[in-house]
Parts: sequence; C-alpha cells; structure tokens
Amino acid sequence: MSSKIGVLISGSGSNLQALIDNVENGNIHGEIAVVISNRENAYGLERAKKHNIDAVFINQKHYDSLAKFNNAILEELKSHQVDLVVMAGYLKILSNKFIETYRNKIINIHPSLIPSFCGKGYYGIKVHEAVIEYGVKLSGATVHLVNEEADNGPIILQEAVEVEYKDTAETLQQKVLKIEHKLLPLAVKYFCDGKIEVNDRKVKINIKE
Ligand code: GRF
Repeated sequence: MSSKIGVLISGSGSNLQALIDNVENGNIHGEIAVVISNRENAYGLERAKKHNIDAVFINQKHYDSLAKFNNAILEELKSHQVDLVVMAGYLKILSNKFIETYRNKIINIHPSLIPSFCGKGYYGIKVHEAVIEYGVKLSGATVHLVNEEADNGPIILQEAVEVEYKDTAETLQQKVLKIEHKLLPLAVKYFCDGKIEVNDRKVKINIKE
C-alpha cells in the first residue's frame, strides 16, 4: 500500500518541491495527500496547487492555544488519511498530542549537523549565521524523526558540506539546501518502502548491499 504523506511548511517550499518531483518521477512510492502551511503567503502552497495537491492554510490566530491549533492540523491530516508527516521548513513547535499521534512517523529536515547548531532559536538563516560566526569547517543537513524535544529525535540521514572562508550565511544556506533536496526525499523514500528501523536513538536503514 502506498503511503499518504502530509507536508507541513512555513515558507518557500523548495524541499516540498524536491518531494513532489521525487513522487512524480516514481522514486518515492507514496502520494502527497495534503500540504499545510501556517503562513497564508507561503510560496509552497502555490507549488502544491500547481501539482493538484490539496493546499491548506491554517491560521494559528483562530485558536487560543498551540494545542488547539495542532488539533486543527491533526484533523486535516486525518481527513486525508495521512500516515507520514514531513516537516519541510515548518517553523512551529508540534504539540505533545501531535507527536504522540504520529510517533516515529514525523520527519523533519534541519540545516545543520545535529547536535550542533540546533534546538530552540536555531531556524532558517540564523543557523547558518551561527555556523559562520563560530568558524566551524563543516556544516550540513540532518533528517530526523521528531520527538518532544526540538531537533532531538533519532537521526535518519546526515551529510556534510565544507564551510569555506569566503562563505556567507547566504552562500552556505544555498550549499546546504542542495543537500537537503537530496536527503529529505531519500529519507521519505526509505520510510515509504518500510526500510527504517528505530532502536532507541539509533536508526537502521534496511537496504540490501
Ligand atoms: C530549510 O533550510 C529547512 O532545513 C529549514 O527551513 C528551510 C526551508 O526551506 N527547516 P524551503 O521552504 O524548503 O525552501
């Protein structure tokens, strides 16, 4: 049975685009059932519509708590029978009930090598600014499962990029995004193919060599 994927976004949705492309070319054996954004003008919603995918804006201002806002997202996901949730540049915290409902079925992409430059306050360009300022020689991208702590769940895939002396936060962001567009679809493909085995913090990917 093919997985039904729900994608959460807040912005441009270039990672969403990478997922759409990999579904359409048959690399991911799944279907993007719905794209949900917490921002009305997120370009990712347009990307979804162009590919005839249901695109939904849910306005947090209409709910008086994070829990209720998350319940509204959960309702939308359930109505599309979603079995895998992908956070592709979604900049909000998920409620505990959300995480419990989709335990080990929520994938997030983070633009650094976790556990460096992650957690509260590290999002978007801020991650790359912190990397440049610290002067590390390697950064990269991490795809991981989501648990109750920000950027803390079991790691599925990581890949490094070199941080060059001449790099700015913006040039580094572009380099890392290139990797993200490869790693996120690959992790989703593994999930849809049932290749991901989670043992405490460690993830085993069951592919035949
Ligand atoms: C990516 O760098 C992702 O890692 C981070 O937010 C950015 C989203 O970019 N969480 P896009 O919306 O997929 O273009």
